Amino acid sequence: MLFVTYAGLRAVLEAWDSDGFPEALAVKLELLPIIFPVHMVTGGLSLILVPGTILLRKTRFHKIIGRITAADILLAGITAPFVAWAVPVTIISAAGFTAQALVWTGLLAAGIWNIRNGRLRAHQTCMLLMAAVTSGALFFRIFLGLWSRFGDHHYFNDFYALNAWVAWSLPLFAVLIFHRFSGRGLRGQLH
Ligand code: HEM
Repeated sequence: MLFVTYAGLRAVLEAWDSDGFPEALAVKLELLPIIFPVHMVTGGLSLILVPGTILLRKTRFHKIIGRITAADILLAGITAPFVAWAVPVTIISAAGFTAQALVWTGLLAAGIWNIRNGRLRAHQTCMLLMAAVTSGALFFRIFLGLWSRFGDHHYFNDFYALNAWVAWSLPLFAVLIFHRFSGRGLRGQLH
């Protein structure tokens, strides 16, 4: 929890203090001086809000925090493709981020739709899967850190493109597989 909170707060602060940004990201910031900081702030907050909303699920705060989280994710998700396609590192990485944003906001919409129709378990499942996709932002940076320490810099673009897909789909499939083997199959839940 401490690590997730730290990563979230750091992302929020980077929206104001981006001096240490690598060239590829500094260019994006120049092109999108409002959209990119909005993405960083809302993306960073989502790392705190998503687990917070899940932890508060049995309290009266769940509904209000849930609404704030949904609005936050919507903003972070809508801004992500703009950031992705502004001078992308590679087209494959931009497509990976766009797919992540679509799956992220799609799961959010499915979760809201399910709870509005009284399907609690399907709602929980969608939100758990959405949390898994959110964690992709963390795995992306963990894999990036490991690569810059141990990787071959000649293949950076290939690694970056792969990371943009794997970092979020890996936790997503891990949660899907966990659900299947824990007897809480998804069939009939995701409408
Ligand atoms: C889950 C859906 C998300 C998508 C699709 C997404 C997409 C992106 C993209 C495309 C970039 C620019 C990197 C590039 O183009 O090479 C970026 C940067 C950034 N995002 Fe997100 N993002 C998401 C969630 C988050 C979350 C949860 C955080 C919280 C940490 C976050 C914080 C940031 C920050 C701080 C940057 C600036 C540079 C960096 O630290 O890498 N984003 N995001």
